[in-house]
Amino acid sequence: MSHQQPLNKVDNNAGVNCNTQRTSSWWSGVQMGPPDFIQGVKEAFMRDTNPNKINLSVGTYYDDNGKPYVLSCVRKAEDQLRAKNLDKEYCPISGTPEFCKRSIEFALSEDSDVIKNGLNATVQGISGAGSLRIGAAFLNRFFPGNKAIYLPNPTYSNHTPIFTQAGLHVKAYTYYDPKTCGFDFTGFMDEISKIPERSIILLHACAHNPTGVDPNKEQWAEISQLAKKKNLYVFFDMAYQGFATGDIDNDAFAVRQFIKDGHQICLAQSFSKNMGLYGERVGAFTVVCSSKEEADRVMSQLKIIIRALYSFPPINGARIVTEILGDPKLKSDWLQELKGMADRIISVRSKLRDCLKKVGSTRNWEHITNQIGMFCFTGMTPDQVGRLIKEHSIYLTIDGRISMACVTSKNVESIARAIHQVTN
Ligand SMILES: Cc1ncc(COP(=O)(O)O)c(C=O)c1O
Repeated sequence: MSHQQPLNKVDNNAGVNCNTQRTSSWWSGVQMGPPDFIQGVKEAFMRDTNPNKINLSVGTYYDDNGKPYVLSCVRKAEDQLRAKNLDKEYCPISGTPEFCKRSIEFALSEDSDVIKNGLNATVQGISGAGSLRIGAAFLNRFFPGNKAIYLPNPTYSNHTPIFTQAGLHVKAYTYYDPKTCGFDFTGFMDEISKIPERSIILLHACAHNPTGVDPNKEQWAEISQLAKKKNLYVFFDMAYQGFATGDIDNDAFAVRQFIKDGHQICLAQSFSKNMGLYGERVGAFTVVCSSKEEADRVMSQLKIIIRALYSFPPINGARIVTEILGDPKLKSDWLQELKGMADRIISVRSKLRDCLKKVGSTRNWEHITNQIGMFCFTGMTPDQVGRLIKEHSIYLTIDGRISMACVTSKNVESIARAIHQVTN
């Protein structure tokens, strides 16, 4: 089909340009895309007129009253920043050096040799997703091995689009065992050992999304050895540091173990969940290099990628994070609040499991308390999920994932009753 250039003529009544000789639109070939995996559920929830409806699909933390939660240390940091009367100039392409330093110290620890020796090329990213996207672009341009990235099955719903759009080939490895609703360590090791050498694998550092299933420490150590033996390049996605167990060092165990074992990893970080800064979009991307000189070269290329993607990162969220991490009082307040969020989720897991028993379910729901972090992969089938939505106005993604952060002491019993009814 040939396109005729639209001729624009000024419509004097409306004062706007309108197309008078358009025979077809430029965009007639654009097909309607599917709604976003999570957004689609949210839209259906919004349309539901049931006053008792519950949305368990959202990946943000709510307090026990089901309300969005802004951390008080964030409010205090904002007050302190306001008092500084800072300007709104562009920050460097790679983000503020102070933020990048604090961020990577948070991940690797302040006494990390990588940092001391200047082996990290760290840039500010637009939260976790944006940091993954910078990493994807960098690997697509420079990774010297096999340009395929192996992702766990299942994984964060945005991983495949992010890596595919950047040009990498996306492949999957076994991760989750539906029979146990747990980690399939044997299946995982078996598949990782078959991945071609010099490939990229992505690992969730903690609180795997969507399953809430993580390897234990011994398993991480074995995974690290296998990845070394196979000469695999490891991309860590750490979107939940501190949010999983409430302990920032414990949650960074895998990343630090791999570094200790000599892996030159790359790492995407997010401050969405652990500081509740979702809409601020603040995160970081790091490439660990073999020398300071190599890190400088990598940094120069990361800047070139970022400049073309969005020029400069936003300043506000990074300032908040820097203020909190750089102020001992604010940092200690934050660690307490972080623990509070993690503990609420841990306790509501037990409540849901207890309630399921109380309402008469005889199924094994142990995985609810074995899993970790924001999400619980319930093991419900798509049919059961469909019934929860249709018959009980309880909304969740079709894979049976529920956000534990949306479960409260007030709604837990009705959720348990509904789950029991559809799984009975
Ligand atoms: C595993 C994982 N990575 C990255 C992200 C990105 O989050 P954000 O871009 O909001 O920081 C998420 C968010 O749900 C996630 O679960």
